[in-house]
Amino acid sequence: MQFARHLNDFKPSYIRTILQAATEPGVISLAGGLPSEENFPLELLQQASASVLSDPQALQYGITEGEPNLREWIVNSMSTETVSTETLDLRRDQVLISSGSQQAMDLLVRSLIDPGDGVVMEAPSYLGALQVFHLARANVVSVEQTDSGPDLNQLEAIFSQRRPKLFYTVTDFHNPTGCCWSLQTRQNVLQLAQRYGVTILEDAPYRNIRFSGKQLPSLFELAPEQVCYLGSFSKTVTPGLRLGYLCASPDIIEMVARVKQAADLHSSTLCQRLLLPVLKSRQYQNHLNTLKCDYRERRDVLAGALNHYLNGKVSFSLPEGGMFIWARLLNVNTTVLAENALKKKVAIVPGSVFYEGDTSEGSEYIRLNFTHGAPAMLEQAVERLSDVISNI
Ligand SMILES: Cc1ncc(COP(=O)(O)O)c(C=O)c1O
Repeated sequence: MQFARHLNDFKPSYIRTILQAATEPGVISLAGGLPSEENFPLELLQQASASVLSDPQALQYGITEGEPNLREWIVNSMSTETVSTETLDLRRDQVLISSGSQQAMDLLVRSLIDPGDGVVMEAPSYLGALQVFHLARANVVSVEQTDSGPDLNQLEAIFSQRRPKLFYTVTDFHNPTGCCWSLQTRQNVLQLAQRYGVTILEDAPYRNIRFSGKQLPSLFELAPEQVCYLGSFSKTVTPGLRLGYLCASPDIIEMVARVKQAADLHSSTLCQRLLLPVLKSRQYQNHLNTLKCDYRERRDVLAGALNHYLNGKVSFSLPEGGMFIWARLLNVNTTVLAENALKKKVAIVPGSVFYEGDTSEGSEYIRLNFTHGAPAMLEQAVERLSDVISNI
């Protein structure tokens, strides 16, 4: 078959490939961004399912923008969760439900980007976003990340010289680095975006998984007219429901809804109707608190194991939330390490895959997920890794 020419260099995601290998018996995977199944709110979903399935409308075609009551819930929760003193005046016509936030990203990019349009991303960056921008044939420009967010001098130079249309970012618990932007960086980036007319795409799947530290306002909350916001229920409820959402101005939502009609008409009515009672349940906040406590404990186990087994060889900052530790291993080629580790039945992701193009950048880093493996498994994985490193 002759495939579309622009797909000639469209590679499958490294992580999807390694996840396949990670399903082999005995492999401990620290590779994917998987939540722990032990924390899925099964009881709440089971309770919801009986009443949801007694209404045949739950299995009917639905509205492209999503179930009105779920959109209303998102409006309320986004408005009440604001951190800044500004009030967020969000309306239902500014919310669209998607099949995972990944789909909203794809639909939004298809709605805004023509081939060759400039898109800025942080380096390193979320692989799924790199794929979306490649598929849209955007001209991707990278800005380096510092501990408090993107390098502002570089960003201004890119904005002023390259005049990009979009800046894609993960401001809270970045994937892969776990970085959270400082308040100053948030304000400065918004000023730059306003000055140079760049729309910001804020991807926030980990925002509600904070274990410690202070929640800072989202970019969307600070400047809703400049920012499109992606939220997800994958990390807080379950990824299998495949539900996420986009918040943006009504004209953007209207165009994205047109594109969504062509893509899949609407997201699953059944899944949306199952999700809503879970979110509205009195136990939902308990569920979130339990999940965060558990993830914090797993993070501490992984961090402790890294310090114990790789003492003097590894450095990392402890993330205050999210799902990953981004660890630096001095003088280790982590692509080789990842290959050898898989032979010893540990799956990890080498840092270089999170960078644009074929590059040695990130080659001393690995991304380690701490939310899927049980604590004892996390410890065992690091012990195995330290053996592999000793033998490289
Ligand atoms: C930064 C980031 N954005 C988006 C997604 C996609 O999430 P969803 O399951 O909502 O499609 C992920 C998934 O891991 C992610 O890490």
